Amino acid sequence: MHLKLVISAFVVVESFVTSDRFCSWSKETVESVIACPQTIYEWEKRARLKNCTSLAFIQNCTETIKFKYHCVMNELEDAFLEVCAPEYYILGACTEYNTFGAVIQPHYRLKCSDVNPPCAERYLSTDSYLYEGCYNAVKNNKNMSLTEMPQTGSSVNIQTDGVRIPVSGKITIVFISMVVSAVVITLLVRRLGKSKYHSHR
Ligand SMILES: *[C@@H]1O[C@H](CO)[C@@H](O)[C@H](O)[C@H]1NC(C)=O
Ligand SMILES: *[C@@H]1O[C@H](CO)[C@@H](O)[C@H](O)[C@H]1NC(C)=O
Ligand SMILES: *[C@@H]1O[C@H](CO)[C@@H](O)[C@H](O)[C@H]1NC(C)=O
Repeated sequence: MHLKLVISAFVVVESFVTSDRFCSWSKETVESVIACPQTIYEWEKRARLKNCTSLAFIQNCTETIKFKYHCVMNELEDAFLEVCAPEYYILGACTEYNTFGAVIQPHYRLKCSDVNPPCAERYLSTDSYLYEGCYNAVKNNKNMSLTEMPQTGSSVNIQTDGVRIPVSGKITIVFISMVVSAVVITLLVRRLGKSKYHSHR
């Protein structure tokens, strides 16, 4: 019974480790731009120029119709990137293209409620152009990044059924589940030892 729980915990951990949306095709299309479109008209114009649809038919990251034009911040919050990538539902944060993970994902450092105007709690990544607050935050950071020495926040996040775990966190989870298993096994062994002791008396 306890052993079953431990095993299923390991299976859950394993699924986090292996689930990965890395899209090498998107990496080929990344381009830094001065600003992102903020109206549907501008968005469509830029999307046509970027021509993601032609690549959509040959890429192998996602279904053809989900491989779309994006203009979003990078993981360091100091640049705007135009990229063709699989669209993705974003929960509660601004959207970034993570250049290490080659993936469109939430930018956890900028929560929707923290930007002005705030973004929607759930939206399709291709609609991120609607959320001016996110882009303004990057504009404000652009100059700071020039003097900022440590470059943090470059971790890749993996989202599975609404549970968000950064890669560095995955190691922590593996470690925690190992500790938990050790504790459970120790308790089991002790209990077995105790019941043997009682039966001898
Ligand atoms: C998009 O790319 C395809 C294939 O490279 C090309 O035939 C087409 O003319 C391009 N369209 C635009 C609008 O650039
Ligand atoms: C997808 O395409 C990339 C680039 O051509 C290739 O390296 C990769 O092996 C492909 N993956 C699958 C699952 O076919
Ligand atoms: C911030 O950057 C913009 C353009 O990159 C520049 O025009 C502006 O003067 C900079 N502001 C400061 C305070 O450095």
